[in-house]
Amino acid sequence: MFDAIATRYDLLNRIISLGLDRAWRRAAVRALELRPGHRVLDLATGTADMALLALRLQPGIRVIGLDPSPKMLAVAANKLRSTQGVALGEGDAMRLPLADDAIDATMIAFGIRNVPDRLQGLREMARVTRPGGRVAILELTEPRRGPFAPLARAWTRHAVPLIGAAISGAAEYRYLQRSVAAFPAPEAFAALMRDGGLEPLAVRILGFGACCLFVGTPRGASGG
Ligand SMILES: C[S@@+](CC[C@H](N)C(=O)[O-])C[C@H]1O[C@@H](n2cnc3c(N)ncnc32)[C@H](O)[C@@H]1O
Repeated sequence: MFDAIATRYDLLNRIISLGLDRAWRRAAVRALELRPGHRVLDLATGTADMALLALRLQPGIRVIGLDPSPKMLAVAANKLRSTQGVALGEGDAMRLPLADDAIDATMIAFGIRNVPDRLQGLREMARVTRPGGRVAILELTEPRRGPFAPLARAWTRHAVPLIGAAISGAAEYRYLQRSVAAFPAPEAFAALMRDGGLEPLAVRILGFGACCLFVGTPRGASGG
């Protein structure tokens, strides 16, 4: 599905999030507490926006960007032509081609929603991230509470599919709306993180509830 929208994906991201995704992405990268030399995993890297941002905010890191969509990876490779420090590869969040504890910090932005077995994806993040390392999960959510919730819900339910279809010419943006609506509430997702072996350290509601940032760390042997 992501192959079909790869070339227009970045533009659509900006429009659909009203430009807010940039600030949300920065919050996710900062939560990773990156240091020079860190090995950083960008899961569902897509067009590599997160990998590039991480390198900009913390030069001297090495990023591995994995995604199952060859066309998204092709757009990413094009964007990364003059950038050192990012290795791209095809990869599924449910079966990571990485050793235990191989990574200092893992991120996945707007990707966990698409992973068919989210618990398995979380288990894999917990497995490959070293003890004490950070995991940042950024995801779109349906605004449920607060004065702006009805407006934000109307935006994701009605405007997003229309704008997405108009610009990309694809029906895929119906899927976006449906998958956002089906994503668990923040408390339920934090519980799933725990089940997957990640201790939630922070849950930040962003964009009046349109986005949520989950920060976790692998639970040690004593943490269960
Ligand atoms: C909405 S895009 C997000 C891309 C990028 N992280 C960003 O911030 O713009 C979702 C990405 O998830 C990828 N994806 C879908 N299923 C996946 C899976 N099982 N494992 C890893 N990535 C997956 C898609 O190919 C797509 O590139």
